[in-house]
Amino acid sequence: MDRYLENIEHKAAVLCDALPYIRDFVHKVIVIEYDCGEWLSGVEEKKMIKDIVLLKSIGVIPIVVHRTQMGVDKFRENKRIAKLLELYDTKAIGICGKDGGMLQVEKKMPNGKDIGYVGDIKSVNTEVIDTLLENDFIPIIAPIGMDDKGDTYNINADDAACAIAGGIRAEKLAFLTDVEGVCMNPKDPSTLVSVLNLIEANKLIESGVISGGMLPKVNNCIHAVNSGVGRVHILDGRIPHCLLLEIFTDKGIGTAI
Ligand code: ARG
Repeated sequence: MDRYLENIEHKAAVLCDALPYIRDFVHKVIVIEYDCGEWLSGVEEKKMIKDIVLLKSIGVIPIVVHRTQMGVDKFRENKRIAKLLELYDTKAIGICGKDGGMLQVEKKMPNGKDIGYVGDIKSVNTEVIDTLLENDFIPIIAPIGMDDKGDTYNINADDAACAIAGGIRAEKLAFLTDVEGVCMNPKDPSTLVSVLNLIEANKLIESGVISGGMLPKVNNCIHAVNSGVGRVHILDGRIPHCLLLEIFTDKGIGTAI
């Protein structure tokens, strides 16, 4: 067959494979925990942004919660992501968890120790998010909250994404990371676990397979599912178009919980 025809037939097949997922996820909310880590080069980031634009364009409802690299101004990062989306004619607004009283926090005191302005989320008020979604904006949310005295606190981005996804009863929550997903042997990507239910995830925690940096992440995933999120995905953000590959294929590319 002509190479050109072969190529476009393949494209048609990809689109057809995506059809059931497009149907399932249209008008559903996907919270994306977006990590602007160093590992995300300019080119890769553009692909990530395009994935979000595509999701939005077909009627999926993305919400972005972002983490920020150490030393980078959170608000600048926040507006930068909104700008990248706007460059694709996609309505986006950068806000933080203080806006509209979205994220109420209390001071975190691990073992009674004062570690500064770091907060634990007490409650989520989704009114601002609902308003933005009604008006077709993608909310880009910096994980910052406020206590009842009006003081400002930093919040762990995973915790914020998880609380927001639970608060809004999102269909999906996707964590963009710099690892493949949950692996039976973290040093060997070929041991990636593609799907985990809650019982299996808890077992892997008990047996110590899930440990280190993956442990709080998976605990957050479990918490999100328990608070009503349909499915949580841990994805390797270094894979170009990881969001589309996960959401619009049967097997995906990361770990789905
Ligand atoms: N595309 C489907 C979804 O988004 C299935 C994804 C499966 N992913 C996986 N890592 N096994 O729900």
